[in-house]
Amino acid sequence: MTRSTASRLAEAAQSAVGRLDEYRTFLHSALLHPREVGAATPTTSAVAATVGQVVPTTGAPVVVELGPGTGSLSDGIHARLPEGARHVGIELGGELVEHLRTRKPWLEVVHGDAGDLSALLDKLHIDAPDAIISSIPWSLLPPDAQEHTLRQAAEALPPHGVFTALTYLPAERSAGGRHFRELLESTFDEVLTTTTWRCVPPILHYICRRPLV
Ligand SMILES: C[S@@+](CC[C@H](N)C(=O)[O-])C[C@H]1O[C@@H](n2cnc3c(N)ncnc32)[C@H](O)[C@@H]1O
Repeated sequence: MTRSTASRLAEAAQSAVGRLDEYRTFLHSALLHPREVGAATPTTSAVAATVGQVVPTTGAPVVVELGPGTGSLSDGIHARLPEGARHVGIELGGELVEHLRTRKPWLEVVHGDAGDLSALLDKLHIDAPDAIISSIPWSLLPPDAQEHTLRQAAEALPPHGVFTALTYLPAERSAGGRHFRELLESTFDEVLTTTTWRCVPPILHYICRRPLV
């Protein structure tokens, strides 16, 4: 075996161990806090590729991620961001926060609740994030919690800003899913949807612009 083959094999093994560790941490959090995590596994790279498309690649953008979990979307966001950008992740789960701080040193991790978004952004001296990318389980939240958190996100965005959310496609038809969609449509002038089918179950993305608040 050549040296380069050996080092490629070692890299592949290291990356597989990293992914296993990510799954283990995610599953552990999901078992302890099923309603907060709202999924059994992290989202796939196909989902991350779709989410990543809203991330600015020029200037010095500020991206705020709500519910980064083990960081499966964060990697794709990070890969697109230019030098000088700011990438903040607001995560509720303590174990997930520890994981992110160890594994994603480039991510500015805040241990906090997306429901306190305005106060957290003030504390971070962020007044107009270019993108707020959320993957918290919106459809499992009661209507007043959906409204409270979404209003803060819409108020924080500048006119050119973008807000994204994702949900399992079947959850769109649940009471919480229907309420969330109506809420998005009354909060933003533009609400686009796209589906990632290479995921089980498929993921529905909402991409929203021009907040009406
Ligand atoms: C469905 S998982 C998504 C994780 C990851 N972004 C992914 O795509 O695999 C939802 C994540 O949101 C976090 N979360 C749920 N409610 C939250 C809240 N109010 N504030 C911040 N994070 C929250 C959970 O702890 C979990 O990490």
